[in-house]
Formats: sequence, structure tokens, C-alpha cells
Amino acid sequence: MARREAPLIEAAVGRLHGVASPASGPRRQWLGRFGALTLQGGLLVPAALGGIGGLASLAQPGSARAADAPAGRATPSQSEGPFFPRELPLDRDSDLTRVAGQSAVARGDLTDLTGTVTDSTGRLQAGLLVEIWQVNAFGRYHHPRDNRGDRPLDPGFQGYGQATTDAAGRYRFRTIRPVPYPGRAPHIHVALSAGGTRRLTTQLYVAGAIENERDGLLNAIRDTALRNALLVPFAKPSGATDANAVLEARFDIVLAQDGRFSLSGPARRA
Ligand SMILES: [Fe+2]
Repeated sequence: MARREAPLIEAAVGRLHGVASPASGPRRQWLGRFGALTLQGGLLVPAALGGIGGLASLAQPGSARAADAPAGRATPSQSEGPFFPRELPLDRDSDLTRVAGQSAVARGDLTDLTGTVTDSTGRLQAGLLVEIWQVNAFGRYHHPRDNRGDRPLDPGFQGYGQATTDAAGRYRFRTIRPVPYPGRAPHIHVALSAGGTRRLTTQLYVAGAIENERDGLLNAIRDTALRNALLVPFAKPSGATDANAVLEARFDIVLAQDGRFSLSGPARRA
């Protein structure tokens, strides 16, 4: 990355998340915390500026090919942001709406988030670790750096969860529909890893949310089709009459298979 660009990027990403850059720590390391550095034309640039995620197939590639999954373009990568858990919660399962030891269910609109992971040739990706993290229903992260005291914590919301793709490349979470917070459209952070190596870091957005139009990270993806690949409808099941029906959201993910783009650092171990 050109030296003169780094402060601008740090400031922009920090503003988007309502935090200032840290007073200490190597700049490169800190930038790495904010997400993927992608290799484009021999230059390392932040993925938030339009990189495409995914490494060449590494460990545990799926062997089956999805009969109904056409070859596709890789899902765009997005920055990790500053709120990936410093320490993973003891309860880190795929149901973010119930926390061990808590009787209350998470506040917010319950949602089943599902999807299938393939590579760009349509090959199913089994055995991948899928991680998600997001703000609670009040717009606050479970993270010590999120000190927005005007927004309550929600002890019933896990904030972070893990799932593993099955033999058909599928994953499933129970979570809540994300809400906006100042500077950001509603989003869920998503990371995929194989064999301890991060293969994609991205964010999904709520299709139709008015905040999408002004979200700097989302709109840094100039290609409309790629940007749309991150827009996910959150809707009640067809025919559902229950006002409290659990929403459904489907986010299918395509990993780059050709290895043109590389991501920052190894994944944190589960
Ligand atoms: Fe975020």
C-alpha cells in the first residue's frame, strides 16, 4: 500500500466504526485488524476498496460439485472491522439468540441465516469454519472497544457464532436481523476459514435497507452485480401469518478459486 494512503484508509475505516486509531501498535498490524489486504496489480490494497476474497483452494476443498450451482463470481471481501471478538465467548455455537446460563432470548427479529458455500467453479465447500458477528438489537457490539454507553448490552445475545459447512456446503445460524448504527448500514460480519487459514472476510447487508445507499464500505464495491451479491433479503417464510415468525435470510457464498487475490494473515483459531 502506498504510504500516503494508509492514514486516509485508517481514518475512513475508523470513522465508519466510530472509533479512533489505536495509539500504539504497528500500523500494518492494525490495518490487518481492519480486514483483508488484497493483492491487486502487485499492490496490497484494503479489500474494502473493492478486493475480491478467497484464496486458491487450500485445505479441505469440497470434492462434490453442486448440480444446481453454476460457476459464479467470487463473493466480494469486506474489512473485518474492529469488533471481531478479542476473546471468543464460551458459548460460541450457531444459535446467537440463546446464551448458556441466560434465560432471556435475544432481543430483535429472530432470523434463520443459511447458505451454501461453493468455489467459483461450483464445487461445494465442505468442512469450512463459518464465523459471524454483529451488533445486538440496540446497535452495540459485545466488545470492550464498543463503549457506546447509550446503547444497552443484551446478555441474551451471543454476538458471535460459529458453524461448519456440511457435506453439501451448507451452513446455518439462528441470529437476529442486523440493525444500523451511526455510519453503517445493517450488516453481519462473515468470515470463512479452512484448516486455520482465513479464506474470506466479508459482510452481508439487508436488502432494501435505506442505509445501504450511504454505506461507504458497501458502496466501495463499484461493480453493481458484486455489490448486490452482499444484499440479502430478510423475510418471513412465504405464507407465514404469525407476526412473530422467524425471518429467513439466505447468503450463498462463492470463494475465489484461482488464487489471484490473497487475504491477510492466518485465521484466529476457534
Ligand atoms: Fe461492523
